[in-house]
Amino acid sequence: MAAATSVVVLDRGNNTTCTINLHGATVVSWRVNNQEQLFVSKQAIFDGKKPIRGGIPFVFPQFGPWTFGPQHGFARIVRWNLEKAPERLPSGDVEAIFSIMDSEFTRSMWNYPFRLTYRLILREKELHFNIGVYNPSKDLTFSFNLLLHTYFKVPDVRRCQITGLHGCTFIDKSRDGTVFQEGRDVVTISEWTDRLYQNTPQEHIITNVVSGRKMRIQKYNFPDTVVWNPWIEKAKEISDFGDDEFPNMVCVESGHVSSPVILLPGTAFEASQILQVM
Ligand code: BG6
Repeated sequence: MAAATSVVVLDRGNNTTCTINLHGATVVSWRVNNQEQLFVSKQAIFDGKKPIRGGIPFVFPQFGPWTFGPQHGFARIVRWNLEKAPERLPSGDVEAIFSIMDSEFTRSMWNYPFRLTYRLILREKELHFNIGVYNPSKDLTFSFNLLLHTYFKVPDVRRCQITGLHGCTFIDKSRDGTVFQEGRDVVTISEWTDRLYQNTPQEHIITNVVSGRKMRIQKYNFPDTVVWNPWIEKAKEISDFGDDEFPNMVCVESGHVSSPVILLPGTAFEASQILQVM
């Protein structure tokens, strides 16, 4: 499963591209006018087994530690199918669709039939993500978490401000899972941060991303927002993450994780996200 044969590139022209590694359908690069927007660690491992450290890993059906399988579920470590190769739409935008369904491997951890589709559309300054989860069973209901674990590339995380979190409750994993309420108008990061913000609004803006620009995140059917930066000590504990890389990334993750999605037989769940360079 060589990495070189596992990538799919959406090319919109003007050096605006998006690269997806079929391992986990991990978006490993998003360039807008040749400017990379996503952080991928220099220590990232592309062995077709480990999750890729950076870009946008796809978290499903579990967020966090899992009794029955690996942390953050299996979707980020299985090879996805290219359901629809990159195609230019009349608008000039480029679309591709990826999918997975249950296999012997997924059933060894999570014994349900499912079908997951992941549609990406690359626009001039935007990347759109449409996710569909389908339960084809006649009688089994299942529940799951879903999250897009986006690593944004930033020149200095200390200078980023994240909007849209004021007043939201959050589970602070860096403080034994204690629940707090956010009092700040904008969230800044100056220490190990691992917070699950609940019932967040549809939009966040991150300031001072690459080239000093702003990044807009719009999300639908993703009630939660995780904010993560490992900072100095935790970075040292992560083997596929450089000790000095923490200032250059911030994870702002749209998810449905604080409560699970419950999917009845024969029904589907949809969620989406739009990232926009402002
Ligand atoms: C975040 C979690 O989403 O992902 C953190 O909130 C976790 O607790 C981080 O450390 C990275 O996880 P992983 O499995 O990719 O090292």
